[in-house]
Amino acid sequence: QVFRLEDYRPSDYLIPRTELDFRLGADNTRVVARLTIERRAGVDKPVQLELDGDGLTLRRIEIDGETVDAANFDATPERLVIYTPPASGHFTLLIETELAPSRNEALMGLYRSSKVYCTQCEAEGFRRITYFLDRPDILSVYTVRVEAERAEAPLLLANGNPVELGDLANGWHYAVWHDPFPKPSYLFALVAGDLGCIKDRFVTASGREVELGIYVEHGKENQAGYAMDSLRRSMKWDEEVFGCEYDLDVFNIVAVSDFNMGAMENKGLNIFNDKYVLADEETATDADFANIEAIIAHEYFHNWTGNRITCRDWFQLCLKEGLTVFRDHEFSADQRSRPVKRIAEVRTLRAHQFPEDQGPLAHPVRPRRYREINNFYTATVYEKGSEVVRMIRTVLGAETFRKGMDLYFERHDGDAATIEDFLKVFEDVSGRDLSQFALWYHQAGTPNLSVTASHSPATAEFTIEIEQSVPPTPAESRKRLMHIPLAFGLVGADGKDMAYGSAEGATVENGVIHVRKRKHVVTFSGVSERPVLSVNRGFSAPITLTVEQRPEDQIFLASHDSDAFSRWQAFNTLLTDATIGAFKDILGGKRPELSADLAALAGRIAGDGSLEHAFRALALAMPGEADIARDIGKNIDPDAIFTGREALARKMAEGNSGVFSQLYDNLRMSGPFSPDAASAGRRALRNTLLDYLAILPGGAARAAAHFASATNMTDRAAALAVLAHRHAGTEEAKEALAEFDKRYRGDPLVMDKWFMIQATAPGAGAVDAVKALTEHPAFSIANPNRVRSLIGGFASANQTGFHRADGAGYTFFAESVLTVEKRNPQVAARLATALRSWRSLEPKRQAKARAALLSMQAKEGLSADLRDIIERTLA
Ligand code: ARG
Ligand code: ZN
Repeated sequence: QVFRLEDYRPSDYLIPRTELDFRLGADNTRVVARLTIERRAGVDKPVQLELDGDGLTLRRIEIDGETVDAANFDATPERLVIYTPPASGHFTLLIETELAPSRNEALMGLYRSSKVYCTQCEAEGFRRITYFLDRPDILSVYTVRVEAERAEAPLLLANGNPVELGDLANGWHYAVWHDPFPKPSYLFALVAGDLGCIKDRFVTASGREVELGIYVEHGKENQAGYAMDSLRRSMKWDEEVFGCEYDLDVFNIVAVSDFNMGAMENKGLNIFNDKYVLADEETATDADFANIEAIIAHEYFHNWTGNRITCRDWFQLCLKEGLTVFRDHEFSADQRSRPVKRIAEVRTLRAHQFPEDQGPLAHPVRPRRYREINNFYTATVYEKGSEVVRMIRTVLGAETFRKGMDLYFERHDGDAATIEDFLKVFEDVSGRDLSQFALWYHQAGTPNLSVTASHSPATAEFTIEIEQSVPPTPAESRKRLMHIPLAFGLVGADGKDMAYGSAEGATVENGVIHVRKRKHVVTFSGVSERPVLSVNRGFSAPITLTVEQRPEDQIFLASHDSDAFSRWQAFNTLLTDATIGAFKDILGGKRPELSADLAALAGRIAGDGSLEHAFRALALAMPGEADIARDIGKNIDPDAIFTGREALARKMAEGNSGVFSQLYDNLRMSGPFSPDAASAGRRALRNTLLDYLAILPGGAARAAAHFASATNMTDRAAALAVLAHRHAGTEEAKEALAEFDKRYRGDPLVMDKWFMIQATAPGAGAVDAVKALTEHPAFSIANPNRVRSLIGGFASANQTGFHRADGAGYTFFAESVLTVEKRNPQVAARLATALRSWRSLEPKRQAKARAALLSMQAKEGLSADLRDIIERTLA
């Protein structure tokens, strides 16, 4: 079934109040729903009422306390129809259903994870609990009563505020929760079980006292502190930056170990993948700490962007997700280093969104059709969606943007809104017409700007020619011209931006060229000396750039651009070009060389004390094999890329061995661990240097020493990766792997790192290694985190292993996806997207990848989730 945006129509009935009564049992849970139903004003005849279900068993049905005549309803697992509801159009519908949470391995609806009952309802999981109008524009006030055996579930949580708690006979007890804010069913949540917790308090700007709770497995309470600290900082930041205050008496977070995604913003009761809650120096890396901070913030920020203002329908998903990602990006930028954060965002966007946008799964930020909505929780909706919001701010300016957000909250609080509503507030506060800009929501594909510049000393004019193109994407062969805000600077010989007289040929304001036409010739007057052009500063638009620029200009920008992002970009472009050159050398049977200029520049950046450590780490890191493959674009031979990249890395290490090793020694840290950004940056730089130094003679010993002396997981995991990737098979590598396994066998989240490191070890041996690891006692095919680490790590981060020339990687992968799918279609579908760029491979691998896709497609009874991904990937 295909769902289309243009088919949206309001429902005939509303459900202003929902009362739910749960009696929890692992194999047998009884749910009684009492729904207050009203016919929508304007619908005057008593039309039939059709509620959504998914795999439900109906036990009882009553209308206004009376049994419903068998002829007046029909219940299947997928729907409940009442043919003739009461003519008054106002009635109470009682529905009793029966569930088996312990057998729910899809992890949607009500399920059990390590004996804890929990829920995941977004997008369409509520219909696995009871029959309902399970769509985001049905806002209802929920009262929830939960009954459970006290021994099994001393803790009973639901959305909103606690109302009542009491004992029942035979060791049972109950709790009642009430959420005064009308909400869509996808925000419903319930948790019951035996968990440990840490508590804190937060007083909002207007004086509301909020009790904060984070619930984790017993014994892990001391790993929840960083999450709590992140929560408090998020609450404060949202008040200060967006004027958004919390609105209930409690805010609870529960960490569970089986979870399909990262986390979920259920009103007042966020449920998290424990990977994004639990952290201490012994078990979590700096990247884990940063992710926890970002995701805690993200889910908290949803309270306003998502919950108070929700989506009219699932086509509007980016309304809450793109905006909330933008907000969590800004939060992290304020908490840490803004330029470093921006570089990291762009790397993520390019690694995940660009290949999506440039392959068969491309779709607009606001899609117009879907078959399975769960497959649209994508990098395009989230990350590109965030970039679009960022561009709105760039176009309007920060102050007007904030006015627009204020108006959005004021005008739409309590609404199920659309992207049109969102854009309208910005048009209203700015008086601008954003209709061309709106194409960013409606049109898929990554726009390209091709830029050339020339300087005329005689006329003191600097001219930039800009041409835009948007490549065709599936179902959109013809594209319209877009409004692209291109931040730029004319960098003078002293490294400062040069002033100019006037600009003609495009609107140029506040350092931004507004590209709106196919072609602009922008002429700057009063530019007597030749500047070096810096474009797309701060990554002002999510585009690809083709700039004709001499290497010496790139080197100049990498050394002097006042915009840190562009400085990083210039160096990264140089490194990428050199790596692509090395790849071509390998194919042509030549030995790759690294230019002395580039090697020297790397040495200067490494030792430049005016640059943040984290910035230097990001700059020096070699572009990934997948990044290079994406830049090359077609006829990819991952083995040649690997060999070329390795050769270049070796040259880089050899050319800078003195600087790198001295700096490596200087960066050693002592004293207590701190996860703060500056300390993390120091570790990041030191570990980046280790990766180079490990190539040189004595490298394995150095990495082994780094591993042995590590006092935190960041250093330990970095050293382990270096050993397992650069020195696979050596005694040092084997010992470190065994030692890590022994030490962390009982901690699944840490073992995920161990699985991931081995899954990403390059080379033809990876397939068998990963296969063998599926038998390891710490692995479980039923757990999404394990699957993502081992199988997902292999398929999406091991270019030479996964794309093994004989196709063995694809065959193993297809089998694994199908095994996962039997339990959990959603995780399987997500996994399968690893093959989305199969058409850019060289012909032999392409044929083998296609065969693997076809083998999955041929399976009988394939889930809608996986079928959708495979068919779009093959189309
Ligand atoms: N709304 C959640 C978040 O962005 C993600 C939930 C995704 N759920 C799903 N079934 N696809 O934090
Ligand atoms: Zn979200």
